[in-house]
Amino acid sequence: MNRMICVLRNASRQSQCLLCKHTKRRLSNSVSVLSKTYKTDEWTNITPRIIAKTETKLLSNKNHPLNIVKQRITKFFHQKFGGYAGSSSPLFSTYEDFSPVVSIEQNFDVLLIAEDHVARSKSDNYYINKDWVLRAHTSAHQSELIRAGLPAFLVFGDVYRRDEIDSSHFPVFHQCEGVRLFTKYQLFPNSDPISIQVQINSSSGSMDGMHSIQQPQLFTSHERTSEYQETLTMETSKMLEYDLKSCLEDLMNYLFSRRLNSRWNEVYFPFTHPSWELEIEHEGKWVEVLGCGVIEQKIVADAGCPDRVGWAFGIGLERIAMLLYNIPDIRLFWSKDERFINQFQVADKGIDEPFKFKPFSNYMPMYNDISFWLHSSAKFHENDFYDLVRSIGGDLVENVSCFDTYICNKTGRTSKAFRLTFRHFEKQLMQDDVNQIKKQIEEAAKTELKVTVR
Ligand code: DAH
Repeated sequence: MNRMICVLRNASRQSQCLLCKHTKRRLSNSVSVLSKTYKTDEWTNITPRIIAKTETKLLSNKNHPLNIVKQRITKFFHQKFGGYAGSSSPLFSTYEDFSPVVSIEQNFDVLLIAEDHVARSKSDNYYINKDWVLRAHTSAHQSELIRAGLPAFLVFGDVYRRDEIDSSHFPVFHQCEGVRLFTKYQLFPNSDPISIQVQINSSSGSMDGMHSIQQPQLFTSHERTSEYQETLTMETSKMLEYDLKSCLEDLMNYLFSRRLNSRWNEVYFPFTHPSWELEIEHEGKWVEVLGCGVIEQKIVADAGCPDRVGWAFGIGLERIAMLLYNIPDIRLFWSKDERFINQFQVADKGIDEPFKFKPFSNYMPMYNDISFWLHSSAKFHENDFYDLVRSIGGDLVENVSCFDTYICNKTGRTSKAFRLTFRHFEKQLMQDDVNQIKKQIEEAAKTELKVTVR
C-alpha cells in the first residue's frame, strides 16, 4: 500500500478511536490528567487530544525554538538584574515546572476576573470540572509566588485556550509571566527617610521661602483615573510605568538583536491598571508582542504584601519565536520532523546568534467545506465546532473559518458554512483523504452539536 495513505489511515483510525474515547469521556465520571484523577461534571470539556498535549513538555526540549526563547529571556533578566543588592544571585527567580492544572481561584478569582467575565466561559477554556481548569495564562501563578515572598520572578509554561484555528492559533501555546515588586525605597531610591530642607531663593528673602520637600509616597487615596489606581500615588504609577516599559523595550531589543521601532497601546486587563500592549515593527508590519501593566494593588495586598507595589507582564513565546526565526505555522512547534528540529541545534552557534528557519513543506493544502443548520443558535458556539474539528482532524487541520452565516426567512433557522483547510507537513494529502475526515466531522457534529448537515 502507498505509504502516504497508510499514514493517513493511521491518522484517521487514531482519530476515530479518540472520538470513541471522546464519547466515552462524556459518559465516564472521572478523567485523568498528569497522573491525577478528577471527577467530571457538567463543566468538563477537556478532550483526550488536549490531555495528551499536557505531557509533551516542549519547553524542556533542548534545541527546540521555544526552549531557546525561554533561555534568552532568562539570560536577559539574569544579566540585567544579576548581582542585585550586593548578592551574586539573580533577582528574578525562574519557574517552569508548575502543573498546567490550576484551580478556578488561581486562574480567575485571585486575578480579579469577575464571575461573569467572558474569559471564564466554557467555550474559551478547557475545564476539567467546575473547580479545575487547564491554565489559560501563566498569570495563574502570580499570586502564590507573591505570597511566597519573592521580589521578582519569571514563570514559563504551557497554556490552553479553546480558540479559532489558523496558522497562528493553536489550543496549546506557551507564555512567560514576569513580575517585579518594589518596596518604597526600592522604587524611590533617592528618597531619604528624613525630609530635606531646601532654601528657595525668594524675592522677599523672608522665611516663607523655606520649603520642605515631601518624600514620595507609595500609597494614597484618590479617585482612579486612566493613569493610576485609587490607592497608588501618581509618582508610584509613573515610576512603575517607566521601569516596566524600559525593561520590556530593552528585552525586545535584545531578543531581536536590534533597536526596534515600538509603540505602546493602552488596553484593559482585570489584573493590572494601567495596562498596555507593546507592538513592535517587524518587516514593515506592527505586531503585538506582549501585555503588561501595574499590578492591581488588591492582588498584591491579598497575597500578603500590602506594603509593596509592582508590575507584571505576559509574553506569548510562539509569537516571538515565529517572528525571530520566520516560522510560518504554529503547528510546526509540535512537529517531530527532523527537518524542523535539526534546524534549532544552536549549541555551536550559541542562543543569541540570529538565524532563519528554512521551510521544508512544499505540500499543497487541501480544502473542504461543511455547512449545516443549527439546532438552536443560542447554544451553538463556534469554538465547540473548532474543537470538534481538531479532535478528529488533529494537527492536519491548518485552518477553519466560517465564511457564511445565513438565517432562513421562512423557518428562522440559522445555517453556517465553514471552510476547512488541511495540510500535512510531510506528505501530500489527497482529496479522498480529506473527504474521509470531513465525513467523520459531519457525523460527530450531528451527534455532539445536534446540527443538521446540509
Ligand atoms: N495574562 C495575559 C494574557 O494571557 C497576559 C498578561 C497581560 C499578563 C498583562 C500580565 C499582565 O501579567 O500584566 O493575555
